[in-house]
Amino acid sequence: MQIRCLLLLILLVSAISCSPRRGIRVVAVNKDGLFPKRVQSSLESALKWFENAVLVQDSSSSYVVDYVGKAVPGYLTPFAGRVTIQTPNKVFSLGILSDEFKTLFEYSDVVVFIRAKPFGCGSQPQAFGGAMRPKSEILRASITKLAFLEYCYNEVSDTFSYFDLFRHEILHSLGYGVFEPHDSAMSVREEKYQWKNEDGTESTATRHFFNTNQHALDEVKKYFGCDNDILKGVESDEGGMHLNEYIFQNELMTPTLAEKNYFSYISAAILENIYTGNEQWYNVNRTFIGPEADAYNFGKGFGCSWLLNSCYEFLEGRKNEKVPRPAPFCLEDSVQKCFKKSENELIAFSCELRDSGAADNNIPRPLNTKYNVPSTRYCPIYPNYFEKSKYELVDCQHHK
Ligand SMILES: *[C@@H]1O[C@H](CO)[C@@H](O)[C@H](O)[C@H]1NC(C)=O
Ligand SMILES: [Zn+2]
Repeated sequence: MQIRCLLLLILLVSAISCSPRRGIRVVAVNKDGLFPKRVQSSLESALKWFENAVLVQDSSSSYVVDYVGKAVPGYLTPFAGRVTIQTPNKVFSLGILSDEFKTLFEYSDVVVFIRAKPFGCGSQPQAFGGAMRPKSEILRASITKLAFLEYCYNEVSDTFSYFDLFRHEILHSLGYGVFEPHDSAMSVREEKYQWKNEDGTESTATRHFFNTNQHALDEVKKYFGCDNDILKGVESDEGGMHLNEYIFQNELMTPTLAEKNYFSYISAAILENIYTGNEQWYNVNRTFIGPEADAYNFGKGFGCSWLLNSCYEFLEGRKNEKVPRPAPFCLEDSVQKCFKKSENELIAFSCELRDSGAADNNIPRPLNTKYNVPSTRYCPIYPNYFEKSKYELVDCQHHK
């Protein structure tokens, strides 16, 4: 395919494109039937979103439908039952061994096989997604067609964004944070640095970097307003699968979802850095994602200090700004605030809550601080702020 296109270009000496890019065809297969209505329609919307946001080229794939029974957990032979199919537009059921299923499999770019997560489900809505990348060189040179999604069948939450959950997991299915990218020039995968605590003492901290290219790093620099070569990479979680929660907060590809999450230009660049063989596989339609990517604004313009230093140094540098402590920082004189859920219901949250767990950058719990939340790196930051930030923020006392 690639070779034929190249020849065409040489012969015609013109800028015709080989095969036009089109929306990616992702379908979901579920042997346990339909999700509850709200969840199922979020899955459909998520597939529709992929069709609009991610463009691919036609390519003959070497995947055959036989692999399903040989390689997909939960669907291994002798499983031969009916499955529920969700496409971006409709839902129907098919026998997994039928010719119709084979046709659908061949037509699709990515087929996501859903099964109930066998163990380890908490009480929150949760899912785990990824791609099943085979060892064979031939298969690795084409887009990975087989993907899985393990789902926790919890009680359906009224407020949780299942749309964001499915988008997040299917992005992993496309290879986000999973596949080795083309340009592994970012050879630094972690570094130690000094984290300044509230009382001026310092702790040794660790940060991890996403395995991605210069383009994604440039998007990070642009977004935060940090034009500095000291910045070695895009900060990730410890496993290198996600954008770092503390740095990026309510971006879609951080480990924890808020009630509303944003797919940013940073994630677009990371997705576009996924290669099969020598070919970039995905293109993100920036016109389509524009409204959402432009609406992401956590930390926008926070500068290099946010990316490189501790929150205390960051706040020190902002002392003379109009808004020295932007959201989600708590104010100096008010460590407790409330979201006004309704006239009679306030949700209180505090910067002082003592919490178990460890800080993601490995700093120890500081001795002299009232800020005790490890997930905020013991900073004066409201934990889970973005989970509830659609409500008005008020003083708790004034609304009793
Ligand atoms: C990209 O998205 C815009 C807005 O949805 C759409 O009008 C346009 O046709 C899309 N481009 C491609 C190449 O699909
Ligand atoms: Zn994830």
